[in-house]
Amino acid sequence: MSKLLIEGGHTLSGVINVSGAKNSVVAIIPASILAENNAIIENVPNISDTNDLIDILKLLGVNCEFSDNILKTDTSNIKNMLIPAELSTKLRASYYFMGALLAKYHHAELYYPGGCNIGARPIDIHLKSFEKMGVKITCLDDKYVLDAKHLTGADIELRFPSVGATINIMLAASKADGVTKIRNAAMEPEIVNVAEFLNSMGAKVVGAGTKEIIITGVDKFTNGSVKIIPDRIEAGTYLLAGSLIGKNLTVNNLNPKHLEALISKLQASGVIMDIEDNKITVTSSKKILPINVKTLVYPGFVTDLGQPMQVFLARCNGTSLFEETIYENRMQHIKYLQKMGAKIELNNNIALIKGPCHLHGANVTATDLRAGATLVLAALIAKGITKIDGVKHILRGYDSLPIKLQQVGAKITIIE
Ligand code: EPU
Repeated sequence: MSKLLIEGGHTLSGVINVSGAKNSVVAIIPASILAENNAIIENVPNISDTNDLIDILKLLGVNCEFSDNILKTDTSNIKNMLIPAELSTKLRASYYFMGALLAKYHHAELYYPGGCNIGARPIDIHLKSFEKMGVKITCLDDKYVLDAKHLTGADIELRFPSVGATINIMLAASKADGVTKIRNAAMEPEIVNVAEFLNSMGAKVVGAGTKEIIITGVDKFTNGSVKIIPDRIEAGTYLLAGSLIGKNLTVNNLNPKHLEALISKLQASGVIMDIEDNKITVTSSKKILPINVKTLVYPGFVTDLGQPMQVFLARCNGTSLFEETIYENRMQHIKYLQKMGAKIELNNNIALIKGPCHLHGANVTATDLRAGATLVLAALIAKGITKIDGVKHILRGYDSLPIKLQQVGAKITIIE
């Protein structure tokens, strides 16, 4: 089992290029089965979630070529097949094949998705929405069969603006009969990117990025193409690294508009950033003030940066309060931060973080993707050497993380 070995305390300078967004590409790859024949997807991150979804495409008979961050697909020989548990449980986003297969065949069979263990993560909103569109759902031993004699548009109000449900409904509705309205839709930038791809294939999706999305079903799709937007979580992780131990660290190829909640928190704490159109340069400052952070849906402070943010809060001069509101179990990294010397009191999903903490290296474990990124940040500023187990979680979502950090001066290697 590979581990990350990090020697802390080395200043990070230079340029880190941000890759394409994981949470965009993981929906766009399943959506590519809707293309008449060919789809071209650019700026695809080389992460294990991408490769796991390509494996599902190949199972369905889609011809895939993936090189130089470009994925080309050809659906000429596609067949509808059961997606077995060994493929669907590798990641959360396998559930996007529900919406995509329903749109294409009015029928989908797959096992319950996997993904990071950060909470119960039910899919009731997806399923109830499909039912409103005429889909009959049966489930036996985690195997879901979704079938629609007639897939129809519907007026759907989400009880919570779920990212996954919003995208899944958009996929199914894109070829349904009639108009679908999604009220209380999620507004994350990745949803806009998926809509852009669907529209490139002839879909009629209007309002993505707002609370109300209207999808008019069409009969036939054309070929399609899209460029994946920059990964705002990867960008945010490296901005935090720069705020902690950077000297003119430039995080390049990002969209500052997608990072407004993080930027305003860092600025409130006293971090100085030079913000340009598609890059931000940051240097760490000694006088960072404590701040309070609560995760919210977009455009609020994103849950996926909540764990990494806690390393920053641990370095602030005073006590900060952090609250996670989206997932019930996204605090498993805290015991490892405590092992490294952080002073954190955890009460359910609220952490009282007493800074400034002086962290030291330790043997720790990444229990999920963002917990892994958090431990990397902690290790970069810790005194001594940190060994991080569970590297596979990190590689699910961060393209070439060890190399990108090495190139700006970090002492980080993967050992077997
Ligand atoms: N929820 C329900 N029922 C549903 C769907 C969601 O109760 O049917 C609850 C979830 O349990 C959770 C909350 O609603 O408590 C948010 O879930 P949402 O559906 O918005 O998230 P998701 O689609 O499962 C995606 C990303 C996550 C990211 C969230 C929020 C993918 C594959 N995953 O998850 O990414 O945290 O949106 O932005 O796109 C990550 O990258 O580390 C990650 C976990």
